[in-house]
Amino acid sequence: MTGIFLDTGDIEQIKKYHSMGIIRGVTTNPTIMSREQNKGNLNFKKRLIEIANLINPLPLSIELMTNEYTEMKKQAVEFSKWAKNINIKVTIHGPGGEMDNLKIINELENKSKVRVNVTAMITAQQCFVAAMAGATYVSIFGGRANDLGYDSKAEIKKLRSLIDTMNLKSKIIAGSVRETSNVTDWFHSGAHIVTCPPQFLEKIIIHPHTKEIVKQFLKDSLKLKK
Ligand code: E4P
Repeated sequence: MTGIFLDTGDIEQIKKYHSMGIIRGVTTNPTIMSREQNKGNLNFKKRLIEIANLINPLPLSIELMTNEYTEMKKQAVEFSKWAKNINIKVTIHGPGGEMDNLKIINELENKSKVRVNVTAMITAQQCFVAAMAGATYVSIFGGRANDLGYDSKAEIKKLRSLIDTMNLKSKIIAGSVRETSNVTDWFHSGAHIVTCPPQFLEKIIIHPHTKEIVKQFLKDSLKLKK
């Protein structure tokens, strides 16, 4: 599945854009879900199952909430059992640089048959290693990469070339959108998927001059004899 994913846990926003047929999946992360919790009475499991069922068979990414080795494997299997279209987000390494995450990624993909979205990556090189570990998705945080002085478009272009040349299965998800131009720029650079918060989709669709054109057409329509 390639195209625009919605980067949110807000079920109403997902319903809205899914009904338009313009999204091809949904991604979440603990920060996104904590925002949903701040809105009041979030049942984490219930909400994510609701999202998975709403967009089925489109993919839904759910991120692990621990970096403790045993607990990570347990959570990954538990979350993936909630619905067939769920894939599991695992950060490429832990908060202290713990690299066992790659071992878990490899085991989940190749032994447990759990699809993994390796996340929290800044460079093409990180994503390439995650792709070598067998990741279904590799998520590059383009907006944060730009903030750190990288050229996100160049990183994505380099990564796509490596994945294609080496015939790796991973799909590139470009996330961390900071402006609407990121979406088409990152697709143009070779991302298979751009995961976009709802507010940016609205900015992409609605243009002030289009509003003027529509007003003109409707005004002139009134003059027409039916
Ligand atoms: C993808 O789902 C990422 O988790 C998300 O796009 C990160 O965005 P941020 O850099 O604004 O936290």
